[in-house]
Amino acid sequence: MEVEPLLLASQNDAIRTLVRALDMHGPGEADHADRVATYAVATGERMGLSDDQLLKLRRGAVLHDVGKIAIDSHLLSKLGELTDEDFAALRMHAAMCETVLGDLPWLDDVVPMIRHHHERWDGAGYPDGLSGEAIPLGARVIGVAETYDHLAFGSSYKEPIGSDLAIQVLVDEAGKQFDPDVVSAFLQIEPLIQPLGT
Ligand SMILES: [Fe+2]
Ligand SMILES: [Fe+2]
Repeated sequence: MEVEPLLLASQNDAIRTLVRALDMHGPGEADHADRVATYAVATGERMGLSDDQLLKLRRGAVLHDVGKIAIDSHLLSKLGELTDEDFAALRMHAAMCETVLGDLPWLDDVVPMIRHHHERWDGAGYPDGLSGEAIPLGARVIGVAETYDHLAFGSSYKEPIGSDLAIQVLVDEAGKQFDPDVVSAFLQIEPLIQPLGT
């Protein structure tokens, strides 16, 4: 996919605008998106992805939680225990990316990576219960990257557990929640991201 520079810049501006809107809706989301994109691209490079695949992966990673724009903002910043209904509403953000991004055909290859970033390697994830290599590779990479970031840095619902424990969770979940090959590649970039963790 050779994209003309001016068009590429306009597309990147549109992505930035979406992330800014998401961040105003759920504070901290823009920084989370940027960190996840950094980890995801570094992991994708270790896995030998092409420049075109890496561009799409970066876009998918930056926009992975954009569906949260459609979720009640009080829920995004709710402190403490969440109810089953809260979790069900939050889980809607994965599939909602199709509504938010549906009029941007230049993201057609990216939307599946976003829709499926909460699937699990063992098939127990959402929204579609895909398993193994039926989950788009980009979604598998984003899933590992964003889980690391949510664990290491915490969220309104969870205290941060720091880099070392977050890495341990990834290792423990390789072959269960996560594609083991993606976890292996992520571990190779770990020295680069350790200083970012708490
Ligand atoms: Fe998410
Ligand atoms: Fe996320």
